Amino acid sequence: MRAFLLLSFLAAALPCAAADLARGSQTYALHCAVCHGPAGQGGVPGAPKFNRGERLMQSDLALLESVRRGRNIMPAFAGVLRDREILDVIAYLRTLQR
Ligand code: HEC
Repeated sequence: MRAFLLLSFLAAALPCAAADLARGSQTYALHCAVCHGPAGQGGVPGAPKFNRGERLMQSDLALLESVRRGRNIMPAFAGVLRDREILDVIAYLRTLQR
């Protein structure tokens, strides 16, 4: 019984913990690619090139904060996207590095 409870707890908790790359990719295409480029190669002047790892040496939390608040011409995404959605995009950004 104990083991069963533990297993059902893990089953319920784990999907929330892991980033959803598929959703991150969709959110990126919808909200970010216009400025950062479909493959993270950059677009508007000053936008970091994620395919070269630019700015990605920061922690997920630091990047989350920037995207929530906005930076220069990048609009604030707080209230548009949930933190969970932004973190999924950040996990996706890290896959664009070549
Ligand atoms: C209107 C254009 C635009 C859009 C839309 C946009 N960005 Fe940006 N983004 C920028 C620019 C320009 C910068 C560089 C800002 C600076 O530091 O001068 C930037 C910077 C960043 C950074 C680096 C922040 C840091 O702390 O160094 C991240 C991460 C980022 N964007 C992610 C995203 C994500 C994720 C989305 C979509 C949810 C997004 N951006 C949408 C233009 C945009």
